[in-house]
Amino acid sequence: MADKLNVAIVGCGGISRYHLANILKTPAMQLTATMDVIESAARERAEEGGAGYHTTDLGRVLSDPGVDAVIICSTHSTHAEISLESVAAGKHVFCEKPPMMTVAEAHAIQKSVSESDVQYMGAWWFKHSPVTIRLRDVIEKPYFILFTVRIPPEQNRRNKVMFGPDAGPGAHRVDDPEGPYGADGVFDNGGYALYWIWHVMRSQPVEIYAMGYGGKPTSTSTIVIRFENGGVANSVFSDVGSGGIVPKYYGEVLAGSVSAATNRFRSLVFEGTDAEGFEEIYSEGTGILNDASGKPYRAGFDEEMEMFAKLCLEGGPNPMDVWEASVPTLIFEKAVQSMRERRPVAVDIREACWTPDGKLPKSVATFGDCVK
Ligand SMILES: NC(=O)c1ccc[n+]([C@@H]2O[C@H](COP(=O)([O-])OP(=O)(O)OC[C@H]3O[C@@H](n4cnc5c(N)ncnc54)[C@H](O)[C@@H]3O)[C@@H](O)[C@H]2O)c1
Repeated sequence: MADKLNVAIVGCGGISRYHLANILKTPAMQLTATMDVIESAARERAEEGGAGYHTTDLGRVLSDPGVDAVIICSTHSTHAEISLESVAAGKHVFCEKPPMMTVAEAHAIQKSVSESDVQYMGAWWFKHSPVTIRLRDVIEKPYFILFTVRIPPEQNRRNKVMFGPDAGPGAHRVDDPEGPYGADGVFDNGGYALYWIWHVMRSQPVEIYAMGYGGKPTSTSTIVIRFENGGVANSVFSDVGSGGIVPKYYGEVLAGSVSAATNRFRSLVFEGTDAEGFEEIYSEGTGILNDASGKPYRAGFDEEMEMFAKLCLEGGPNPMDVWEASVPTLIFEKAVQSMRERRPVAVDIREACWTPDGKLPKSVATFGDCVK
């Protein structure tokens, strides 16, 4: 067994900077190459990380026997295609969220991963936050979950980078940048909400009713989900205002006399139980959810590269596999359908998954618990 995983970063924008810091602090990882359609972006990241080379040619990275794995950090709409090419080239893949924009893309990646020997990890990482872990230990059967995500207009950085007049050659251009597929749309940060709600509810969704501002499929929206266990959840997304005292991420879980709330995964409070929450969680890592003073705090993001290296080098259960990574895609697709058709839409979790035997994968059947 090799003791080092040689990785290439594909897509060298904002998030790759954070992954690079985590690659560099993971002893089992070595940065070999960087690739971006913008040469200067690839060069910059290669210089920062001491990579052997940088390139604008994905083919060079994928045909390089010195690259064991790719860390895909490019724009949303490129993830599925780069994933498929990488798996076909025999490279392990860590793919930023959302790894796939549609259920059809999800099936294609799942099929290719099933037919290969490579590991594939998606990046919906909120389940690794100590807040999520403690909350699920205390509340096993939520009745109601509210998760709100607010991206104030001034924070809409990616919209400018990817969609605006300054958008680079690799930018994802959609007809309606304010629609739910927009870079900071409900499927960007709001995807976390969809994943988290499912993971915390521990039940499969059966019905979805979503509405967008102005009666259209748009980011400023509310998505109501009913689950098999009778529980209901509301995912609220807004990119038209700051929300005042409501933070970027706010989650609330109610279960009869016991309830819990988290502010940005930094704090967790309980009511109706003696269970202790967290006042503040800090780390020395490269957590990307900085508090107001800019100090990073532990949320799960810090550990991703270490988990990925371990998975590729040693095998074992995949902490974020391609099947559970598809759950937000399915919920999102049904929500957009509901917004379009202005009616509740039935959902069957099996639609999210292609498997060789047609059975629901363990990761999905256990609501992302497979990490244990
Ligand atoms: N996990 C997290 O917490 C987190 C946080 C931020 C962003 N993200 C995700 O990371 C991805 C990138 O976001 P970002 O903020 O870094 O965006 P960005 O615009 O800063 O960077 C994207 C980079 O990808 C490059 N690119 C585009 N198409 C490419 C292609 N076909 N091949 C190679 N490179 C290509 C662009 O040139 C750009 O340099 C998004 O999908 C986003 O959802 C995840």
